[in-house]
Formats: sequence, C-alpha cells, structure tokens
Amino acid sequence: MLEQEARERIIVALDCDRTRALELAGKLSGHATWLKVGMTLFYAEGPDIVREFRKLGFKVFLDLKFHDIPHQVRGAARSAALAGADLLSVHGLGSGAMLAACREGAEEAAEQLGARPKLVAITVLTSMDQEALAQIGIDAPVAEEAARLASLAKVNGIDGIVCSPQEAHAMRQLLGEDALIVTPGVRPAGATLGDQSRVATPAAALEAGASHLVIGRPITSADDPVEAYEAIVSELVPLAL
Ligand code: C5P
Repeated sequence: MLEQEARERIIVALDCDRTRALELAGKLSGHATWLKVGMTLFYAEGPDIVREFRKLGFKVFLDLKFHDIPHQVRGAARSAALAGADLLSVHGLGSGAMLAACREGAEEAAEQLGARPKLVAITVLTSMDQEALAQIGIDAPVAEEAARLASLAKVNGIDGIVCSPQEAHAMRQLLGEDALIVTPGVRPAGATLGDQSRVATPAAALEAGASHLVIGRPITSADDPVEAYEAIVSELVPLAL
C-alpha cells in the first residue's frame, strides 16, 4: 500500500495528560494522520483538546463510548462532532434506538459542518468474558453476542465496530468490505505487551480485515515515538491490500 495510505490506517492513542499529549502531538505532526482522545484526556481537557489537535492538522478519533438514553446520545454525538471529531464511538448495547440517535446527532452537526464524523460501535468489551456477560444476564457465547451487536449497529446507521484483531476476520465477513473495523491490541513484533493479552502485529491485524489500528504505548512510550511510528508505517507499506 502507499505510504500515505498506511498513515491513514494508524490511530495513535494518547492516554496521558495534556502536557505530554501536546508534546507527542508536536513530535508526530507531519508523520501521523490520526490521534485518539479517550476519556482520560477528554474529561480533563474537554473539547478544546480536540480543537487543538485539529489545528495541528490531525484527524481525531474521540473515543467516549456513548451509552445513555437516545436523546442524550443524540446530543453527545452532535457536540462531539461540532468539536471537530472525525470518528466517534458508541456502545452497541444501548439499543437500536440509541444507535440510530447517535447517527442522527452526527448528521445534525453535519448540517453545520458539511460532513459528519464516522461512527463505530463497541460490541462486547474485550475485557468481558463469558462469566462477565452472565453477570449481566447474557447467556449467548461472546462471539455470537458481538456479532448480534455488530449487525444491530450496522442496520442503525453505524459505520463499523471496534474489536480485537482476533475477531477482525469474522467481523469483516459479517459487515462487508465498506465497514470500518478498528482494532486495538496491536503490538509490533518484539514490543512490550503492557496489559494487552490478545494481540496481533500491525500487518497481521490489517490482513485479518482491520481498516484502522489503534496503537498507544508502543509509540507513546518509545524512546523515539516518531521512529516507532515510522517503523510501523514501513511494516505496512509492503502489504498488498
Ligand atoms: O497503549 P495501547 O496500544 O494498549 O492502547 C490501546 C488503546 O486502545 C487504549 O486507548 C485503550 O483504551 C484502547 N482499547 C483497548 N482495548 C479495547 C478497546 C479500546 O486497548 N478493547
């Protein structure tokens, strides 16, 4: 794939404080295309951090995993889109009506912005196993539940899902070639696993069907984050995708 296409597929997760996030953004400017802002950074800094990253030229995945009544989620999606996010996450478990409201909120913002952010659904959190599902009254196997929620998201106007690289292949088959499939748990060969257990290399995750890779610490904790980022780009360029 072309080098620019490889950069388009990598989302750098900045799970740190504002000072460090801006330092990393400054270093990665001109190299990385996407940054991910999660709850840790967003609840400390609010929508301004999204605007700052946008001003630096990045696309932003605002990963707040909306889950509330449809009215609230519609407003959340609208507000997040107006802050400048290019990609938003929402929980599939919140019902079809809530997922549809998320899409509506994004479209309302698009009336002002001209374009709406893309939307991805969380199916079953990868931190949950069969026992955790049983605790909340779900007896279906994890894979079956994840597939059900992915389909629910699709029919309600959500553009894709977040899943582990291990599930990417099945999800690609289920959702079709246009779906966004965003995978965390990506570790370049030889990288420290941290608290991730079910991991894949960047190349393996894309070959399994991921459209985007969320990669945090292998880049942000590296002695040279730009070098770490560029090594991943170099791993992806030879792929014939
Ligand atoms: O540092 P690391 O590469 O593990 O960061 C992965 C990012 O993806 C973090 O922001 C984490 O919250 C997120 N994530 C994850 N596993 C999921 C969903 C999201 O690691 N199942």
